[in-house]
Formats: sequence, structure tokens, C-alpha cells
Amino acid sequence: MDISNLLMCPRCGGELDHSCKCLGCGSEYEQKMGVYSILYKDMGEDYGFSAWEFDESDIQKSADEYRAFREKYESCLTSDCKKAEQRLDEAVREHIKGCRGIAADIATGRGMLLNLVMEWNPELNLIGTDIDARILAVTKLVRSCGENVAFVGCDGRHIALKNGSVDHVFSFVGIANMPEPEKAISEVYRILKKGGTFIYKGLFMDRDSEGMRDLAERFGLGRIMDIELLTALFSDAGFKVVRSEIVASAVWGENPYDRYPFAGENCNYGLIVVEK
Ligand SMILES: C[S@@+](CC[C@H](N)C(=O)[O-])C[C@H]1O[C@@H](n2cnc3c(N)ncnc32)[C@H](O)[C@@H]1O
Ligand SMILES: [Zn+2]
Repeated sequence: MDISNLLMCPRCGGELDHSCKCLGCGSEYEQKMGVYSILYKDMGEDYGFSAWEFDESDIQKSADEYRAFREKYESCLTSDCKKAEQRLDEAVREHIKGCRGIAADIATGRGMLLNLVMEWNPELNLIGTDIDARILAVTKLVRSCGENVAFVGCDGRHIALKNGSVDHVFSFVGIANMPEPEKAISEVYRILKKGGTFIYKGLFMDRDSEGMRDLAERFGLGRIMDIELLTALFSDAGFKVVRSEIVASAVWGENPYDRYPFAGENCNYGLIVVEK
């Protein structure tokens, strides 16, 4: 899918020419291995993420490493947690199956959600985005993405897509990894067409848990791991709430790969669907 006409300079909102140069401010961006990198140096400290020096063998190596990591990670999940996530996936699938047109996935990372969307709705045109443009090249390879999937390295708080350019936006815990979630949510609102939906698959914690207290104190991210508070952020941004629900819960086990939730506390598997 050619998405060049949907791209926008996140710095000034200008059009990009065929070489990814902004016609407004002159910023120069890149496209490599089928992935756009629409990141700029003074966007903030997170620019460091977008190490853009790589070649095909490096990407292949990362893809192999990811497959091995995923196996180890899966072995740390309890069977109750796996079952709870499956129940959430069934609920998310019901919403994603009916989507048509173009959908953007925010903070695609290794593409767990992207992979499910490709399976559930193979006709949908997808744009995977992440602040780490390199990871998108790995994901493109690992997930064997077809012609209907495009990739754009950009910050979720400065999305490089034009106003009203997509019919749907999805994210799996994407916003939970970003500081300033309000900015990302207002960007989602901006890029959606009127009537378009945002479907958020999330992992949430109990409000009164130790893990939640630690997360709030250490990173100031308490609100986005509480489904009611996160839903309120969507309403504040102008969205109409269609559904906000914890679909399943399970006790989180020891897992060296995730700081949260703490072992022995609830992990709540939730879904938020909002409409512009
Ligand atoms: C755990 S992954 C999310 C899981 C992913 N959605 C999936 O389905 O596999 C978190 C991702 O958020 C990305 N991220 C962090 N800060 C970001 C930002 N400001 N804008 C966009 N992506 C960001 C990271 O680079 C990382 O790839
Ligand atoms: Zn510009």
C-alpha cells in the first residue's frame, strides 16, 4: 500500500515530497527497507530510540533473537494469564473484524497486536508505527507482512500522518509505554476520520495494589494502568466511549521480563473502544 499521500511532517505539518523532504520546513526524512523514519533530532530525549543504522543481516539477526526471546517469555506466563488474554483477544477480535479502510497501530513494537489483526482481518490496510523505526523493520520481517501493511517510524505524540487520514486506530498497551499519554491520545483523535474508532487492548492493575503505587510514584504512569482513569482521558480528548471493560483477570506470576504487575497481584485484561 502506498501511504506517501497520508504522510505529514510532524514538525510543521507540511507535505513531504517523494524523497521524504518536507515542503514546508525542509526537514529531511528517510525510507529504508520499506520503513519510513519520520523522526527528527530535537523531538526530545526519546529520539535516541530510533537508532537507524542497520543493514539487512542485522535485522535478520534481531528477528531470530526475538523468536527465541518470545519462547522464553511465553514460558513465564501462567496458564491462567494465557487464558485471560485469550478471552480478551476474543473480545478485541469482535471489534477489529468489522473494521474497513485504513487502520494505524500505535507503538507497534514487535507486532503482537499487528499479527493478530492481520489474521482476523486480512483485507484491512494497516500502518504500523513506533518511535523505534528499526524495530519496525524487524517486525516487518518476523511477521511476514504483506503489501497491505506499511510502516512509519514516528513518535506517538507527534504522529506523521495527516488529519483525518485513517478510519481506525489500534494499540496494545502502546500508550502505557509513553510519557504524556494525553498528547498521544489527542494525536489519535487528530488522525482519525469523523466516526472512526480507537480500539485499545490493555493490561491494567488494581487501583489499590502495591504495583500501582510503585508505578505511580516511580514513573507517574498510574492513570494509564487504571481502566477508568484511562477511559476518562479519552472522554476528555473529545471521544465518545463505546465500551470500556475488564474482560478477564488473572493473578500475575513471577516474570523476570516485566516489572508490573507485581507477582501475586491481579493483571486485568481490558478493552476500550472509543469513537470520534
Ligand atoms: C511493549 S511495546 C507495545 C506492544 C506492541 N503494541 C505489540 O502489539 O507487540 C512498546 C513499544 O512502545 C514504543 N514506544 C515507546 N515510546 C513511544 C513513543 N513516544 N511513541 C511511539 N512508540 C513508543 C517502544 O519503542 C516499544 O516498541
Ligand atoms: Zn516540516
